[in-house]
Amino acid sequence: MTMNEEVALSKAYAFFAPVYDVFFGKVLEHGRRSAIALAEPDPGAHILEVGVGTGLSLASYPPHARVTGIDLSPAMLAKARARVARRRLRHVEALLSMDATDMAFEDGSFDAVICMYMVSVVPDPRRVLEEMRRVCKPGGKLVVVNHFQTESKLVQVAEFFLKPLHYLVRFRNDLNLEAFMATAQLPVESVQHANLMNYSTVLVFRNAPQA
Ligand SMILES: C[S@@+](CC[C@H](N)C(=O)[O-])C[C@H]1O[C@@H](n2cnc3c(N)ncnc32)[C@H](O)[C@@H]1O
Repeated sequence: MTMNEEVALSKAYAFFAPVYDVFFGKVLEHGRRSAIALAEPDPGAHILEVGVGTGLSLASYPPHARVTGIDLSPAMLAKARARVARRRLRHVEALLSMDATDMAFEDGSFDAVICMYMVSVVPDPRRVLEEMRRVCKPGGKLVVVNHFQTESKLVQVAEFFLKPLHYLVRFRNDLNLEAFMATAQLPVESVQHANLMNYSTVLVFRNAPQA
């Protein structure tokens, strides 16, 4: 991301972090839990969560997993760190300030990489997928849960009313599922719906060695 984009993101989330969980906690919980369940972490597996936010998902990982989270917003990360301390989540190894489009990890560092409600916040979702793929071991799982463009009239009505909220967290509603899946250039293992009215989709890709 450019410096300007980073500054805009940090400002937006500094404003929203104190109330983020109230608006996006319970309502998106099913998708978070589904993403973790579909990642099926083996005992000792090292999981990366990209765009970890306030750490709403962290208590849902099995205690035998080792979790690292990254995010670019200092305000969101501060909330995640406080949650880990308060809930004594020993399986969370690190919460780092890092750009998901330019990660500092070595290739193949993680057994699985998970990204929740974040790909439509970044200007270049393709770049996030490329980085997720790079830092995941070949054969590992990449799990993405997000809202995509929908034909459902009911959901379109919900989108209309949620527009101001989405605007505040820089969340776009126009990400196309088929185009996004094609971007990954990886086999899709499963596509499932989650959350009220099937608002979100959980995608599981199997990572392949880089060409
Ligand atoms: C809509 S929130 C989702 C937070 C959390 N994953 C959840 O389930 O609620 C998007 C998060 O992605 C983070 N984010 C956006 N762009 C990022 C980037 N390029 N690198 C790292 N984190 C980013 C934001 O700071 C924010 O915490």
